[in-house]
Amino acid sequence: NQRSVIADALLGWYDAHHRELPWRVPPHQIARAVQPDPYRIWLSEIMLQQTTVEAVKPYFAKFVAQWPDVTALAVAPEDDIMKAWAGLGYYSRARNLKKCADFIAADLGGIFPDTEEGLRTLPGVGPYTSAAIAAIAFNRPAAVVDGNVERVFSRLFTVTTPLPAAKKEIHRLVSDVLPHDRPGDFAQAVMDLGATLCSPRRPKCMLCPLKEMCLALKEGEPELYPIKAAK
Ligand code: ADE
Ligand code: SF4
Repeated sequence: NQRSVIADALLGWYDAHHRELPWRVPPHQIARAVQPDPYRIWLSEIMLQQTTVEAVKPYFAKFVAQWPDVTALAVAPEDDIMKAWAGLGYYSRARNLKKCADFIAADLGGIFPDTEEGLRTLPGVGPYTSAAIAAIAFNRPAAVVDGNVERVFSRLFTVTTPLPAAKKEIHRLVSDVLPHDRPGDFAQAVMDLGATLCSPRRPKCMLCPLKEMCLALKEGEPELYPIKAAK
C-alpha cells in the first residue's frame, strides 16, 4: 500500500545516503542487530534539541571521552559538566543532564527506561526526545516529529492546516507511515531527508526518493508547505 511504499522508498534511500554521525549506528550494523548505546543517543538528542549537528559534534566527542557512561556523568561535579557545556547555550539542558544522570544512576540502577512513556519521566526529556530515544536506541515504533519531519510530512501529504495546529495531524501521519520493523532507521531517514534534500527553500525534489508520492511536488510548489499560522 501507499504507506509501506513511502517507508520502503525512504529506507532504501537511507541505506545508500545516510549521514555518518558520531552517535549514529549505521543501517548495515542495525541490520546485524548491533544495539545503539542509549546513553549516547540520549546525550546527542539533548545536545541536538536547540543546536545544529555541526556545532554538536565536538561537544559530543568531548563528553563521551570524559564521561563514557551515565554513571560516570552522575558522579561528575556539576561545575565540570557546566564547564564542558560552555558554548552550547540553553544551559538548563546541562543542569537537567546532570539531574537525569543522577536519577538514572541512583533510582534506576544505571539503566535507561526503554519505552517512550518511561523515558518521558526523565528530567529534560520531553515528548520529542522521548520518542527519538525510544525509536533510535530501542527500536520502538514511536513517531519522532521535529521541525524537519513536520516539513517533509506536510509536503508529502499537502497538510493545509497551519502549524502549530497541524502538529496532531502530522503526528498521526508519521505514526501511520513508520515501519514497525525499522522505526529507528525510519526516524533518522526523515531527519536526514529534511536536512539534506527537503530543505525549507529550494528543496532538491529531483533527487528525492519520495518524488513519485509527494503531493506538494505534484501541486507544483512544495516550498508553500508547511503552512504557518499568520502572526
Ligand atoms: N536532530 C535531532 N536528532 C537528530 C539525529 N538523531 N540525527 C540527526 N539530526 C538530528
Ligand atoms: Fe520534499 Fe521535494 Fe521530496 Fe516532496 S519531493 S518530500 S518536497 S524533497
